[in-house]
Amino acid sequence: MPTRGESSDIGGTVTATGKNPMKAAIETQFGAQISAAGTGLPGVRFYPGYLDRAAQERLVEAVRQVLAAAPPFTSRMPKSGRPMSVRMSNCGSLGWLSDERGYRYEPSHPETGRAWPPIPDALIAIWDEIAQYPHAPEACLINYYGPDAKMGLHQDRDEQDFSAPVVSLSLGDSCLFRIGGQKRGDPTRSLRLSSGDALVLAGEARLAFHGVDRIYPGTSTLLAENGRINLTMRRVTRPADSRLRRPAESLQEQRS
Ligand code: SIN
Ligand code: FE2
Repeated sequence: MPTRGESSDIGGTVTATGKNPMKAAIETQFGAQISAAGTGLPGVRFYPGYLDRAAQERLVEAVRQVLAAAPPFTSRMPKSGRPMSVRMSNCGSLGWLSDERGYRYEPSHPETGRAWPPIPDALIAIWDEIAQYPHAPEACLINYYGPDAKMGLHQDRDEQDFSAPVVSLSLGDSCLFRIGGQKRGDPTRSLRLSSGDALVLAGEARLAFHGVDRIYPGTSTLLAENGRINLTMRRVTRPADSRLRRPAESLQEQRS
């Protein structure tokens, strides 16, 4: 058996959970048969309803434990120092943040100075199931959106290895998510992301511009405080052997 987060299905056939991620439909660890919904965007894998209600509740509890150790903080825009409307925290060996010194990953919380808590096992298991990438994630950014929060169009490009996907999970109120191409001016499409949905940005979509235009307050009963939590797991550093291996995504694209 591969160890957790280091599943050996290089381009391959079977995940740590014994499922074949290349098939159109996969049976999840939550017992559901899910298919990547058609988005018309190459490299985007969208799994609406990936987490059932019980799994969402367990994840919220795990997130609350992380936040107790690593309280939400406010990132600021580089240069202007303008505060972001989204509150953030992280778990993992590295965490993403931003301030006047720029966008970056740091090993510790900007206010407490403590190392980020580890990524909960339940999240690692989800990465193993849908990332189609043979190394563990190193960072999980926790974004909390209040009713008026939004996130401008941006690329996730502070990581060293773009062959690793970004795996996103939505909890709580729905949002209007916008995604385009690799250039800021490329046409965009909007997706409504609801509680329990998973979205994987891989391959051609790994550097796609994306953002959150708005939250739809009151559309979920999951969070007592309303609002939306988004979790994004990322591989930050380049694994030692990554150049010897072909990313699973490109193998998938060759097959189709
Ligand atoms: C992000 O791009 O960091 C967050 C996206 C989201 O909230 O869905
Ligand atoms: Fe992002």
